[in-house]
Amino acid sequence: MVTWMPRVVGTDRACSWERQRRVDGDAMMACGGVTGQAHGRNIKPKVDEGRMKMAYERLFSGGEIGGLTLKNRVFMTAAGCALCEEGGVVTEGLLAYYEARARGGVGAIVTEVVRVNEETGVMNAHQLCATGDRHIGEIRKLADRLRPYGCRLFLQLHHPGNVTHPGLLGGRRPVSASGLPSLMSDQAVDTLDTGQIRSIVNDFGDAARRVQEAGADGVEIHGAHFYLLHQFLTPLFNKRTDEYGGGHGNRMRFLKEVVADVQAKCGRDFPLLVRISVEDYMGERGYHLDEGVKICQDLEAMGVHAIDVTCAGAGCPGRQSLEPASFPQGWRKHLGAAVKELVGIPVVSVAPVRDPAFAEELLAQGQLDFVGSARCHIADPEWAAKARDGRDSEIRRCISCLKCIRGIQNGLPISSAVNHVCGREGEAGRRWGISDKQEAQEE
Ligand SMILES: Cc1cc2nc3c(=O)[nH]c(=O)nc-3n(C[C@H](O)[C@H](O)[C@H](O)COP(=O)(O)O)c2cc1C
Ligand code: SF4
Repeated sequence: MVTWMPRVVGTDRACSWERQRRVDGDAMMACGGVTGQAHGRNIKPKVDEGRMKMAYERLFSGGEIGGLTLKNRVFMTAAGCALCEEGGVVTEGLLAYYEARARGGVGAIVTEVVRVNEETGVMNAHQLCATGDRHIGEIRKLADRLRPYGCRLFLQLHHPGNVTHPGLLGGRRPVSASGLPSLMSDQAVDTLDTGQIRSIVNDFGDAARRVQEAGADGVEIHGAHFYLLHQFLTPLFNKRTDEYGGGHGNRMRFLKEVVADVQAKCGRDFPLLVRISVEDYMGERGYHLDEGVKICQDLEAMGVHAIDVTCAGAGCPGRQSLEPASFPQGWRKHLGAAVKELVGIPVVSVAPVRDPAFAEELLAQGQLDFVGSARCHIADPEWAAKARDGRDSEIRRCISCLKCIRGIQNGLPISSAVNHVCGREGEAGRRWGISDKQEAQEE
């Protein structure tokens, strides 16, 4: 990610919506006073009927991950939406939010960060959870809701490590590899001992087993963005002198144990992705692409089914993992390409991409196997369907203003500067997520 630094907020949504108005105001300023209306549903560009055909053959050809078929190469990477009730109770709002993206044609969705541990693993009071068997039924609601659209569902299993706050942990200190605070705070942090590491390994495996029982298509282990597993992988946070610190093999140990536990509890055939920051972008303090690729090779050797390539993470000064508009489309495509060159399993990668034509080009160049993007689909849940049908001019483009992530960081539900429906798809009586055209036809 994502530069999530959770704030401790009350759970009163009325209060949240009050604050939402202020964030909306900021975002308007950030994009030069452009209104949601100007970017939103009132724009009705002419549809070129002659182009109503499969416009991008590679983007809309089928693919496979771990024996699971995917109907196309459009892959919605994880994005916190914070639409759960506290305790991981799935709401209609969350179901409708994801359903709109599935209906809009994406081939696969990775959910937001899913909690695997209640003591030290809380990232957001309103995140999805897989910490108890009571959550199996909650996750099943989401799996059942997406299945009719042929959209594959992966849950992203996550522990924040030092990127959280005692207020979310019942007063406990956050934990990490070596007691170092995150890049976003000077919060005191405890060092995990071996017993605690083994217990968290067990939590990841148990959570994966629950996801499998709930009928989801697979899991993604979040090994990136300077969260707990990445905190062990990178010398930036890992200063340990035991078997979990030092050389590459020791720093890999925690992640490898998590992978092995998931495989032991779910079987080696259960589709398993791992998200890896293949470059820390922290100079000499972190690791670089050569080690990032080596991590991916080690995971392939263990039987992981796909790598989701990303970079850097929470608090990274350059904001490379969730870039503002100053970064050009495709600036980090070389990261996915480097992994693809040296591993045989499928590579999902954020380039990043905004236009379908650019996505098609990356596939044609063999730079990745699945086109990872979050904000394309936050900004326009029908991005994929419009691209598929040659309606590119109708796509409501993400302007990389970062309003969505700032809202989540402030304890608000997901929203977008260019999509006023985002996060409200489930509001009673509304038919959000259906295109203007469909709506007009059906009225
Ligand atoms: C609001 C928001 C929340 C995000 N939450 C997560 C998350 O929970 N887990 C994760 O791995 N990445 C998360 N990301 C990062 C995205 O998956 C993606 O890597 C990043 O946004 C860059 O790709 P994009 O420009 O296509 O959005 C989030 C991004 C956004 C915008
Ligand atoms: S998806 Fe996020 S970054 Fe993109 S326009 Fe919407 S609020 Fe801005």
